[in-house]
Amino acid sequence: MALLDRAIVSALPAVPKPVVRLISQRYIAGERIEDACGVVKDLNAAGKMATIDVLGEEVTTPEEARHIAYAYDDVFRAIDEQALDSNVSVKLTGMGLKLGREIAKQNLQRTVRLAAARGNFVRIDMEDSSCTDDTLAIYRELREDGLDNVGIVLQAYLRRTLDDIDSLADLTPNVRLCKGIYVEPLKIAYHDFDQVRANFFRALGALLEGGSYVGIATHDEWLIHEATRLVARYRRAREQYEFQMLLGVRERRGDELVRDGHRLRIYVPYGEQWYAYSLRRLQENPKIAGYIASDTVGRLLPRRNGARA
Ligand code: FDA
Repeated sequence: MALLDRAIVSALPAVPKPVVRLISQRYIAGERIEDACGVVKDLNAAGKMATIDVLGEEVTTPEEARHIAYAYDDVFRAIDEQALDSNVSVKLTGMGLKLGREIAKQNLQRTVRLAAARGNFVRIDMEDSSCTDDTLAIYRELREDGLDNVGIVLQAYLRRTLDDIDSLADLTPNVRLCKGIYVEPLKIAYHDFDQVRANFFRALGALLEGGSYVGIATHDEWLIHEATRLVARYRRAREQYEFQMLLGVRERRGDELVRDGHRLRIYVPYGEQWYAYSLRRLQENPKIAGYIASDTVGRLLPRRNGARA
């Protein structure tokens, strides 16, 4: 499978842009904020919450970083004006982390303050392992400055994650827990599928034990099932956790979670940089290309017993 995934990825730059757009439009809301708001409105009508991400990671100047940070002003305004049930997700590299830690911190601080003024919330996505220490440190600094409307992401594939949960415990952090999407060396990350699952399960238990609000971000059926059991075991009320999924992925399973009374938040990326973003995500992790290819083929072929969701 890995070979096939890699073959798909290396063929990608040859695929015409309109075709990439056709495939990626399922996973990306569009280029404009109006596109994102339209998608969020539909999700809200279906009982799902959202988190809006403005695309743009590899900024090369402080002005570009500021441009992305300022794009969130419009997002908060649109959320309020249209009474949408959505918070936002940000990437620190988009806010300038690779140009200087202080640049990213200032852009983030401004965005979190703006969110606070509007009663909204900012989730800091977690990027590759070169960003982990800075991201956790900046998160701590903001919390110690009294900003509470900000949360972090932890990746179950990282061997350090249980230690990170321990060292963040004094903050009772609001955490999105996911498996992790970047390709990391074996020295610092589990590669084995079952080990990642097991670490996700352990990390979720530790976070619930510590009283954290957890965004359980996975489409993995086994983990979804075990997570519902864990939140019940910890007697978590509906408002004390949520499931999270990516736009366009396992939608029918998401509907079931909502029907079963769980809260579900959908990650809604939008922006002019959709093409670069799509290619980069696929090149970073060829496994995703495999998912998308099989999903696309699955949609074109007649459905067998409604097996896919
Ligand atoms: P797994 O990879 O086993 O997937 C289970 C099934 O879901 C697959 O068999 C496939 O059918 C389907 N699937 C999963 N991903 C798909 C995709 N992209 N397209 C089509 N089908 C797909 N990572 C990170 O490093 N930092 C972050 O900040 C975030 N943020 C984030 C937010 C949210 C809301 C989600 C849901 C995920 C993330 N991730 C992330 C990504 C995450 O780390 C992980 O790579 C994916 O969620 C896939 O892992 P699963 O747990 O779904 O399991």
